[in-house]
Amino acid sequence: VVDSRLQGLRVLISAGPTYEDLDPVRYIGNRSSGKMGFALAAAAAARGAQVVLVAGPVQLATPDGVERVNVRSAAQMRQAVLSALPADIYIGAAAVSDYTPRVVSDQKLKKTAQTTGMTLELVRTPDILAEVAEQTGALKLVVGFAAETHDVEKYARGKLTAKRLDLVIANRVGMAGSGFESDDNAATAYWADGEREFASTSKQQLAGQLLELIGQRLDA
Ligand code: C5P
Repeated sequence: VVDSRLQGLRVLISAGPTYEDLDPVRYIGNRSSGKMGFALAAAAAARGAQVVLVAGPVQLATPDGVERVNVRSAAQMRQAVLSALPADIYIGAAAVSDYTPRVVSDQKLKKTAQTTGMTLELVRTPDILAEVAEQTGALKLVVGFAAETHDVEKYARGKLTAKRLDLVIANRVGMAGSGFESDDNAATAYWADGEREFASTSKQQLAGQLLELIGQRLDA
């Protein structure tokens, strides 16, 4: 079912976690499955959009008609996203690591019989979504995600203004039927002068509903 509002638009989507390497055998990651971003990519392509999906390390099949770029770290994801611009719509559905090790050891970090603990020095990663939202040019709509355990509306609206987004999709993590790893998701969408709640359903169904809202926000 082609959607005339999305047909032919270039839609750039980031999905999945990022892995920040510590050494050749270890990394810092998170529990993002990539399922929501992949479902959005499939739904956007089915509606006639030209979709580029920048995917962190996940084992998911590439949806039909979607151009996929695989990355591992936040730095690589930023590079791939910026290289894929210009786009009409950017959807930042990836769970980008907020921190990365200051140094990556090229040898395996070894424990010794004497050591009882270790301290990792981490530095902030670049905020890809905020950087994309700052770009002027073709972008018609920039959409972010907010995975929160508490004060969902407060943090979601905070991101909307701080990162200058058009739309934030917030979901509660850490409960059944929603969020990371789950096949289902419930969400609330926030934009400057409105909000809409989406009841728990499959990520495929929710993706369709979110693209319907995105179509409406493009028109608005
Ligand atoms: O600030 P917070 O990480 O909660 O914001 C979440 C949103 O920002 C998501 O859409 C995520 O993809 C994006 N993000 C990003 N780069 C980061 C951190 C988050 O693009 N370094």
